[in-house]
Amino acid sequence: MRALLVAGNWKLNGSQASINTLVADINAGLDSLHQTTVALVCTPCVYIPLVQTLTQNSTLKLGAQNVSKYEVGAYTGEVSALMLKEFGCDYVIVGHSERRALFGESDEICAQKFVMAQQGGLIPIFCVGETLAEREANQTELVIRRQLQALLDKIDVQDLVNSVLAYEPRWAIGTGKAATPEQAQAVHAYMREMIASLNKSVAEQLQILYGGSVTGSNAAELFAMPDIDGGLIGGAALNADKFLTICRAGNKA
Ligand code: 13P
Repeated sequence: MRALLVAGNWKLNGSQASINTLVADINAGLDSLHQTTVALVCTPCVYIPLVQTLTQNSTLKLGAQNVSKYEVGAYTGEVSALMLKEFGCDYVIVGHSERRALFGESDEICAQKFVMAQQGGLIPIFCVGETLAEREANQTELVIRRQLQALLDKIDVQDLVNSVLAYEPRWAIGTGKAATPEQAQAVHAYMREMIASLNKSVAEQLQILYGGSVTGSNAAELFAMPDIDGGLIGGAALNADKFLTICRAGNKA
């Protein structure tokens, strides 16, 4: 049985004051989670040292939202995987649709970032997902395949063991309109089958998260689906009660 991972993606939100309170409140509720559930927060870069301190005696994991495709050198504004690792990050989100759509990150760049994250000792959470227009044109599987194939062209399928995939349909992000459990399950199964055709055992171990308008009310039915191994949570992750409710929703084991 794959463990459940619930990852908060705080995006461009928070302040020192709000993050102190949020992490303290999440820490206080972690005892109520199932033993095998891993809770993770992906913070804006500048708050990583703060959250590292706040999670020192906690099971809450720390992650970043982005990483440079470069290792070191004259790349103004970039933050490397090794830097993130040095400040206690275990995970990093790669290829979030907001980075793809708003910051011009191509399939190729996302794949490069995945490689760099792993080289730096981080677990990449590699995001894929289609737009509403693509879904309506019956291109969901085509888009997912293209995004995953760009990654598989750069790595050995075995490298996926130290990674997480996330399916985030763009039309579900921040809209309050989550995919139905059946819609999400169909895409997750498709992704797992694509990996299984290359390596069955890797596919069976691989955690695939769902993201897009996950709330305390829909998390349990989403996480109950056989190929959904947790969630990538935006808005609801900014509230400790809501985030913890989602973390408690999927006691699968
Ligand atoms: P929401 O949960 O706010 O829809 O955001 C999802 C997301 O983009 C997480 O990465």
